[in-house]
Amino acid sequence: MSPSLPTAQTPPPPSPSQARSGGPAPVSVLGTGSYLPERVMTNAELEQIVETNDEWITSRTGIRERRIAGSDENTSDLGAKAARIALEQAGISPAEVDLILVATASPDMFFPATACLIQSALGARKAACMDISAACSGFLYAIEMARHMIAGGAIRYALVVGAEKLSAMVDWTDRNTCVLFGDGAGAAVLGLRPAGRTGRGVMNTLMGSDGDYADILGVPGGASRCPVTAANMDQRLNTIKMVGKETFKQAVSAMTNASVEVLARTGLSINDISCIIPHQANIRIIDAIADRLKVGKARFFLNLEKYGNTGAAAVAIALDEAHRQGRFQPGDRLLLVVFGSGLTWASAVIEW
Ligand code: UT7
Repeated sequence: MSPSLPTAQTPPPPSPSQARSGGPAPVSVLGTGSYLPERVMTNAELEQIVETNDEWITSRTGIRERRIAGSDENTSDLGAKAARIALEQAGISPAEVDLILVATASPDMFFPATACLIQSALGARKAACMDISAACSGFLYAIEMARHMIAGGAIRYALVVGAEKLSAMVDWTDRNTCVLFGDGAGAAVLGLRPAGRTGRGVMNTLMGSDGDYADILGVPGGASRCPVTAANMDQRLNTIKMVGKETFKQAVSAMTNASVEVLARTGLSINDISCIIPHQANIRIIDAIADRLKVGKARFFLNLEKYGNTGAAAVAIALDEAHRQGRFQPGDRLLLVVFGSGLTWASAVIEW
């Protein structure tokens, strides 16, 4: 007989002070972590693989290098490493985690969920686990879901991970896409604001999608609609295909609008924000958003030069690096904004 498995336990109800405030309980980011594979692939190395050059890649995207996971390193391995660091910073043990949400477009397998594999690696025995499929926007989608489950009292601690091994999904003969992507993982632990912290935590979030643009960015084959067969293998349908210019245009307008709208919902202006952490796809997309929001680029946290576009992991890695580099302090307000295949987009305002 198989042993009975523990299930997520109901946490204690909100404290009297939360109940008195009448509003949603403040849900905070208690810890962050990230992990990047050791192997660095430079633009010069890509020149040996496809017809491209460092000047084109740097001027059109801002990317100089990216990290590539080893053949024995899976998305779940990257995610588990980032998660351990986030849990350690939060001072929460894996056994205390009620929920693991993993945002990824490059799961280890279709199923089981990569979240379950990370659960097993961590020994987070009581956690309920699932993956979120919202491409590069998934980390903020997951933050939104975790926040409501915590604020509503259903769970106490959530581990939210963005993890990708996009190098396994890239067509290494297609210069239009292979120069853009990289591997990595970021994680955040969410829970009710602990004693001693004053920031209002995740103040507001926004999510949106437009499936009418589903065909401009994605992996068309390898799933149930179009399985990869010996006959169609040469078309590499199980790799990323993108209509770059249209994706660029949609990214700029969706991320600008999502920023403006989440600020309006929060009753803040862009001048109230100390640090903007955008999806790290292309420096020209960020330049265009900065122009439209009328805010200096110095306010944006950027690391795409080192890692390229790491999909759902990008904003999670950037949040962790910005945190560790002291780019924001307690009481500062952050704006996170993302965009991805679907189309999907999301934004969040966090008071640290
Ligand atoms: O995370 C999801 C969101 N993804 C994105 O946000 C990506 C959005 N799109 C982009 O970032 C840009 O559209 C790209 C970086 C993908 C492309 O930049 P672009 O300025 O839109 O270039 P393009 O696609 O219009 O291509 C211009 C030229 C073409 O040559 P011709 O037709 O003008 O002779 C391409 O074949 O550049 C050529 N090209 C390259 N040349 C050297 C495309 N890729 C490369 C390359 N190296 N890697």
